[in-house]
Amino acid sequence: MIANLLQDDPSPWLQALGRSHPVVLHLPLGLLPGMVLLEFGAAILRRDNPRGAVATLAWLCGICAALATVSGLLLAGENSSEGELVGNHKIAGIVLSVVCVLAAVASCFQKRTAFRVLLLVAFAVMVPTGHLGGSITHGEDFLFEPFDQQKPPQPADTPDSDNTPPTAAQSEFQRVIEPILERTCTKCHNPDKTKGELLLTTKAGILAGGEYGPVIVPGNPDESPLLQRCLLPIDDDEHMPPEGKPQPTESEIEALRQWIAGGAKFE
Ligand code: HEC
Repeated sequence: MIANLLQDDPSPWLQALGRSHPVVLHLPLGLLPGMVLLEFGAAILRRDNPRGAVATLAWLCGICAALATVSGLLLAGENSSEGELVGNHKIAGIVLSVVCVLAAVASCFQKRTAFRVLLLVAFAVMVPTGHLGGSITHGEDFLFEPFDQQKPPQPADTPDSDNTPPTAAQSEFQRVIEPILERTCTKCHNPDKTKGELLLTTKAGILAGGEYGPVIVPGNPDESPLLQRCLLPIDDDEHMPPEGKPQPTESEIEALRQWIAGGAKFE
């Protein structure tokens, strides 16, 4: 498959083609609404339908959508650990490009019905495809985050720069460690999305570990996968959090190390 091509042969040309995905995908994104406007706007306003122009755009759109899919699959192939979001975006993108190519073919038919139906289907598939893609690059709640007033303010970058005075009732775990995990880990290791079968939102989850067993060896940070994974080179497939996601700062890593060295206590 295209997706595995990069792992077998990491040719810089293929890699660059994959990375052109964020540019190429914008063409169908603009062309589709434009075509919908031209095709249906003309019908509604009872103007002459600019058939030739629409057919040209339909072919341009079909070709660009196919290119966007190929580059997208190559880009996804660069990263072996693939989440649910990427999987869904892939499927939606493949469906979208197939519909766009079919629409391009149908734009040459004398009767407009098939083309119009395919155009509307493509437009309907484009919206969730684009949203899924945006969620991959910007994070899942990026779009609606501004409405989310209920959320407590994001923890500060470093635990020491927290300007709310720590209450005595809070343990070191609650005060220092939990905010780090919340900011950098729990988007993927939570009850809804337990990546690697690892839950990092509860004490029981942290103690239970993941697919490969315990992630913490109390007193021994260097043997604890939870810390080890953060220390791997950023481009290592096993590095946590995965490349492109918010990373813990050096002082946060140090805080995790000290917490584990001190016995990884929760109270
Ligand atoms: C963007 C999603 C994402 C984020 C953020 C993330 N992880 Fe992961 N994590 C994964 C995925 C996917 C796996 C399973 C694949 C693998 O084992 O590499 C995983 C697996 C793990 C494992 C291995 C568990 C096992 O036993 O299989 C550990 C340990 C881990 N993550 C720790 C962390 C820590 C610590 C953070 C925060 C500093 C973090 N992760 C942030 C996606 C994420």
